[in-house]
Amino acid sequence: MTSQILREARKYEEASEKLIKKEERPAFHLSTRTGWMNDPNGFSYYNGKYHMFYQYNPYETKWGPMHWGHAVSSDLLHWEYLPAVLAPDEDYDGDGGCFSGSALTLPDGRQLLMYTGVRREHQTNTIVRDIQTQCLAVGDGVDYEKYEANPVLDETDLPEGSSRFDFRDPKMWQNTNGTYNCVVGNCRTDGDGQVLLFHSEDGFHWEFQKILVSNNHRFGRMWECPDFFQLDGKWVLLTSPQDMLPQGFEYHNGNGTLCLIGEYNEKTGDFTEQKNQSVDYGIDFYAPQTMLAPDGRRIMIGWMQNWDATNLSAPEERLWFGQMSLPRELSIKNGRLYQRPVRELDELRRNKVVHKNVTFSGITRLDGINGRRIDMELTLRAEDKEKLYQKFAVRFAQNDTYHTAISFRPLESILKVDRKFSGTRRAIVHQRRSLVDSSDGELKLRIILDRFSVEIFVNDGEQVMSATLYTDPKIDGISFFADGNVTMDVVKYDLVTEED
Ligand code: FRU
Repeated sequence: MTSQILREARKYEEASEKLIKKEERPAFHLSTRTGWMNDPNGFSYYNGKYHMFYQYNPYETKWGPMHWGHAVSSDLLHWEYLPAVLAPDEDYDGDGGCFSGSALTLPDGRQLLMYTGVRREHQTNTIVRDIQTQCLAVGDGVDYEKYEANPVLDETDLPEGSSRFDFRDPKMWQNTNGTYNCVVGNCRTDGDGQVLLFHSEDGFHWEFQKILVSNNHRFGRMWECPDFFQLDGKWVLLTSPQDMLPQGFEYHNGNGTLCLIGEYNEKTGDFTEQKNQSVDYGIDFYAPQTMLAPDGRRIMIGWMQNWDATNLSAPEERLWFGQMSLPRELSIKNGRLYQRPVRELDELRRNKVVHKNVTFSGITRLDGINGRRIDMELTLRAEDKEKLYQKFAVRFAQNDTYHTAISFRPLESILKVDRKFSGTRRAIVHQRRSLVDSSDGELKLRIILDRFSVEIFVNDGEQVMSATLYTDPKIDGISFFADGNVTMDVVKYDLVTEED
């Protein structure tokens, strides 16, 4: 039975989606059907399609009472919207809404969703706090029914010293023996993040197993949106810490994305950390979620936004706010998390333009190199290894007034993305620097542009930098700059979707 609140949301989204033209949205990145989108939720493969749900407020381009929006795709790049599946319509989720969560397929073929229900509790006359619990819904890929015994995890399931106000974002998976586990983001009552591990025999009855990882005041405070999976013989914990302090070029201020790589004992639930790194070194990336594709690939999608800029970055007249990153295939190489755009993107490539061994200094433009929906690979080398160039830059989304730049200083091994001339009128973060692996002035960049974003894959996916852009999508110039002699290869394709 769909509630009145969900029926209204479904009616509203269907009508207001029509007010947004295709060319006013990203072409191959999933954006909200209407209103507001944040975290990816329930990313899964179900009944022959990829499913993506998302944190959704259909009524405004601002965060608000959380629904779950829904879209499906066969290639992770062309998405079709389906009706919203969850709305804040029960005692346990009616105030704050249905926060982030995950999906899996039950043995009987139904899809199980687990999400965080948020309700308000009056502590005193003036103090109201959110109480967060984990809840279930079961469905067929279109309609979902909330479980009658919700919530299935609440404060009584928490280990001592854990906060019941910050207890959210369950990510479930099925173990090889058919039982289930989930990780949930939490913090101690002193605000320090931790990830909790829960166990279930049937997906419906859950019990606390152990604290999987404790922050110990290393990376920000509360840890949101954990994900935990096996990859190339290791186990990977992804989580998104709030309130980070910067650490060198690895972690930046604010909301970050953390990757811990280690060993996991499935019997005891012990996780031994070995390495840590950022997931994305750009400006806009948060709360990623992964899924295991039928062909065995581990694919990750993040929310391509920065919480601290949300109410400032979008033009007021726009009827949508929020888009996802490109889906990225994950692997581990040399102890690091590598990310590559999903190979399905290759199918969108058209109009190949190649320039090999272009040696230049100063400003240059190249025949056929422009565009705003493109896949461009740059391979850089110093013309003279004894005398490295000082700086290389590529500028795109460029005309006489606007441009966004990616620049590289080989002597410092620093790569920078800078969108301050992208048309923004707000004093939000516009630049970010990352330390990259380079010697002798060599560097490989794969730059993917969609109408409202840039994603830079460095050295075949060793690092990624993502940023949203607000430059008019018709502005499509590209130029190159070098201080000193740079030799580069350029391979560029247009990325063409069915709407073209
Ligand atoms: C992360 C987050 C989650 C929460 C959701 C609410 O971006 O804060 O922790 O479930 O957004 O929309």
